[in-house]
Amino acid sequence: MYILAFESSCDETACSVCEMSEEGRIIKSNIIASQVDTHALYGGVVPEIASRAHIEAISKITYEALDTAGIALKDIDAIAVTNGPGLIGALLVAVNFAKSLAFANNIPLVPVDHIKGHVAGNYLTHQELKPPFLALVVSGGHTSFFDVKSYTSLEEIGSTLDDAAGECFDKIGRVMGLPYPGGYAMDMLARDGDKNAIKFPSPSINDTLNLSFSGLKTAVINYINTQTQKGLPLERENIASSVTRTIVDAICSKIGTALAKTGYDKVVLAGGVSANSHLRAGVEAECKKFGATFYAPALNLCGDNAAMIASQGYYEFLDGVRGDEALNAYPS
Ligand code: KG4
Ligand code: ZN
Repeated sequence: MYILAFESSCDETACSVCEMSEEGRIIKSNIIASQVDTHALYGGVVPEIASRAHIEAISKITYEALDTAGIALKDIDAIAVTNGPGLIGALLVAVNFAKSLAFANNIPLVPVDHIKGHVAGNYLTHQELKPPFLALVVSGGHTSFFDVKSYTSLEEIGSTLDDAAGECFDKIGRVMGLPYPGGYAMDMLARDGDKNAIKFPSPSINDTLNLSFSGLKTAVINYINTQTQKGLPLERENIASSVTRTIVDAICSKIGTALAKTGYDKVVLAGGVSANSHLRAGVEAECKKFGATFYAPALNLCGDNAAMIASQGYYEFLDGVRGDEALNAYPS
């Protein structure tokens, strides 16, 4: 079946057509209108500007997604849309657009949770992947461990108690003067640094599957400010590398416990920060230690996109999940 999917939870307006069946999952088109350049001027996402930019982009990318896929709207079997979590004004743009398109054309509407969508990006990359498994979602808004019991049932078994790992990378990147959002630039800088150069506090909360990144963020920003006040040079590669090691080590330190708790032998990484080369390598090495198979999305499916929403939308559709005229968005 053909799924047309929409995503507008943050600063990417995205539309995709995927052909989904028991035999395979094929991305026919995956269009993303990014607002990064606009928000870069402010050093972060401005919700009001994001909503307006979604409104401007959504019709155009819908035509583009259908054209690229070579599929007419009349051949679409279901419309999937992210209805949370995210910025409420931003979410409402795709939710209302999808609703109008679905009800005007008599196409079933399927609401999709953004986090489940990130996990489902992996089904497009790894055709053989099937639940149950342990998922680790690391993004700008989330850092959580999930027991993925089935395609549609996820239980959170641990998470950050404050900032997300992506947010931590971005805020430190901003203080270091890196291009917005800082995550990608931190990844690149960290490749040339000494990961043992500076000791920062670990985000790990011992004896739990929880983490806390706010202390690390503050410690790194204090370190940068102190160096600057003393007129000492900022070894940006070493800072990036030490911060990255601290984050990756803390996340990896939970994997053995999470595998023991769930009894699974598969670990799925997902979310924007799953593009981080150090995190991918670290989680893969940790999986090897415990004899678990490691999965991560193709790099173009790590950040927010609508193909992952189509992928999850397919399984929600099979489960009978439908949105009606009253479908709303939820921020958290
Ligand atoms: O999943 P996503 O696109 O949006 C949310 O749902 O939050 O994740 C965006 C986050 C940002 O914090 C961005 O800096 C981070 O993913 N990110 C990275 C990398 N690429 C994107 N963080 C570290 N290393 C990367 N290579
Ligand atoms: Zn996301």
